[in-house]
Amino acid sequence: VRTIDWVDDAVVIIDQRLLPDEVRLVSLESVADVALAIRTLAVRGAMALGVAGALGLALAAREAVRDRQDVAEAVESAAAELLATRPTAVNLGWGIRRVLARVTDGPQAVIDEALSMLDEDVHKNRRLSMLGADFLDEVHGPPHRVLTHCNAGALACVDWGTALGVVRSSYERGRLAEVLVPETRPLLQGARLTAWELGQLGIPHFLITDSAGPGLIAGGRVDAVVVGADRIAANGDVANKVGTYGLALAAARAGVPFIVAAPESTIDQHTRDGTQIPIEQRAGDEVVGFQGYRTAPNGTRALNPAFDITPADLVTAIVTEDRVIRIGSGEKPASTSAEPALVDGTVAVTEGVRR
Ligand code: MRU
Repeated sequence: VRTIDWVDDAVVIIDQRLLPDEVRLVSLESVADVALAIRTLAVRGAMALGVAGALGLALAAREAVRDRQDVAEAVESAAAELLATRPTAVNLGWGIRRVLARVTDGPQAVIDEALSMLDEDVHKNRRLSMLGADFLDEVHGPPHRVLTHCNAGALACVDWGTALGVVRSSYERGRLAEVLVPETRPLLQGARLTAWELGQLGIPHFLITDSAGPGLIAGGRVDAVVVGADRIAANGDVANKVGTYGLALAAARAGVPFIVAAPESTIDQHTRDGTQIPIEQRAGDEVVGFQGYRTAPNGTRALNPAFDITPADLVTAIVTEDRVIRIGSGEKPASTSAEPALVDGTVAVTEGVRR
């Protein structure tokens, strides 16, 4: 079952809020359904968001034809609604803009473009996973003990995964010993999703608390850190799930390779560096409790940045479906653009990013 798919003219997703207890497929029949699923993280992860945005426009085109409305108007308004859902992952805007560019060719072109992104995502992930597994072998002799963060697996994509795809490819080659999985507070993507995926695949893993990661890296328990990305700036700064920066600092201090696995579409040519990447600020109630159970005193205020920026100088390499960009040897993902950053969402908060 794919994380996201197009079945009988509707978007079908695995509702990730219910994992690991239940694998429930949910049918999203309107643009508003897709927008809500994105905001509530029923569908999440940069690659899945790109495809969700694209399929949301396919829904808009289909609805406009059915209701005899202006297709271009309906698709453009859907694009604006979906773009405003989550600001950090550039893939959301990438998927939406790619489909929007076909609107002058008619509704079927919009739908075809969106659907073409489903298989394409899986092929890209498989290619980058092979390159990533090769690179792992290059930086460290097998067997590998890998630490990943959040969930960059099949659940963050249409299928297969990026960072977890690298882990899978390495495991299939018999070169992977184990994976350390930080819980990923506050929404526990590591505990709920990555541990579940690794369990399904039979890959040995240990769940750890987020705060244990840097110490385990320093103590020699990790041969490489492999993470996904939500946006990569032209200079190689990487936005990923909050907590990634601390792991990168620990890896650099310990001389452990820090590898980012993400498709070319995650590289934002229009974002010069990490200071220009909008960081999503989520509601404080995700921090003061979990699933309706309050863990902090009543009235406690919380800050809840969903992502952080890892500066390029802490990154060993970025592996895409086309290349290994050796950031540690001075390579850059893109030539720095003079154009202004494209801010795909509501709030742009970049405080605390050292430049
Ligand atoms: O808030 P989420 O769960 O959407 O955050 C996901 C991540 O940070 C992933 O590491 C990233 O999107 C890469 S997924 C291929």
